[in-house]
Amino acid sequence: MKKKLKIGLFGFGVVGQGLYHVLNETHGVKAEIKKICVKNKDKQRNLDSAIFTYEKNDILFDPDIDIVVELIDDASAAFEIVKAALRNGKHVVTANKRMLAENLQEIYSLQKRYDRSVLYEGSVCGSIPILRNLEEYYDNDLITSIEGIFNGSTNYILTKVFEERKSYTEALKAAQDLGFAESDPSLDVKGYDAKFKLTIAIAHTFGVFVKPEKIINVGIDKISAVDLKYARENNLTIKLVARAYKLGGKIVGFVAPQFIPSDHMLASVRNEYNAVLVEGAFAEKQVFIGKGAGGYPTGSAVLSDISALTFDYRYEYKKFTQGEGFSFSNSAKVDVVISFNEKSAISPSDFETFKGGYQGTGHQYMTGSISLEKLQSLSKREDVSVILAPQLNLDATEQNAAKEVLAV
Ligand code: HSE
Repeated sequence: MKKKLKIGLFGFGVVGQGLYHVLNETHGVKAEIKKICVKNKDKQRNLDSAIFTYEKNDILFDPDIDIVVELIDDASAAFEIVKAALRNGKHVVTANKRMLAENLQEIYSLQKRYDRSVLYEGSVCGSIPILRNLEEYYDNDLITSIEGIFNGSTNYILTKVFEERKSYTEALKAAQDLGFAESDPSLDVKGYDAKFKLTIAIAHTFGVFVKPEKIINVGIDKISAVDLKYARENNLTIKLVARAYKLGGKIVGFVAPQFIPSDHMLASVRNEYNAVLVEGAFAEKQVFIGKGAGGYPTGSAVLSDISALTFDYRYEYKKFTQGEGFSFSNSAKVDVVISFNEKSAISPSDFETFKGGYQGTGHQYMTGSISLEKLQSLSKREDVSVILAPQLNLDATEQNAAKEVLAV
């Protein structure tokens, strides 16, 4: 092992600068940044210009560089960098959730082919150390579900809208100004970013590589003033929740806003904080909470991966290699509250099980359970808003099966 590993960094935005800072402030990590590749030549940067390059091959073909840290915005360009870095014998650390979600199975194979490691703790819920825990700590536990708040910007927006009665537009602008939002913020508010993270989490929780386009995502952009009022009147808040769980021998997963009772663990997770709730058959519920966005929190997760590479760490994808061969499915039902103002927009026949409907504040609500396909099609309609009910009533049969075996 070399005395100090040399890093070639791609991108010097919010997370790149965060990493630079946390690496400088941390003395125990045996690694240093040798070169930073950036795109924009005209941007003023407060580092000696000698460290910057505009030519990716200055890093990719530098034999002195051991680790490529990829922190750029463009997922396709990022994937090309990752592939070239591995081909050239370098380890990779990345926080690019979209690139990872779209190419995870290939990235798994490339690591084996080139005998190099790709680590990406910073890609899922920023500073929360969830991936290495899923890989190592939960190795033998029978995880039945993973769920939580996987996007900092939407949680920040919802907090400001609920607590400070800011407008949605104002709160989104603040999330952008603070560097939490994606450069295309629709990825945050429409639930894509949380879905990319869920895709990665599913691989490490259940050993299933699923393409993100298979996973249904509903965002927070259709939540109306009436929904907020409904929440306040019923002592609820709204969170964008990503979840995946075992059901009927398959893995079901989706992202959607949900009414959350004020005494629920997720209710107190505010601003850009994220939370991951892991449920195992025997350990039962455990919750991780931490900042899910921002330069320093995400930079600290990236730094932890760099540090892990100094002792040759790599993901083993144990759930996949020794796994039960689960497949992904959208065959599930969820309890929802649907609100709409056009009298005939929704009818009881839209539901698998209709629970009830009522009128309030010139608006109509209907509750009951619908299929995930229906959730997706209804959420695309301009005139309705669909929010998961506080008590989801997911089929708990399987969740409890292992415990019952133990009890016999
Ligand atoms: N836009 C992302 C978020 C950044 O708000 O969670 C961190 O992945």
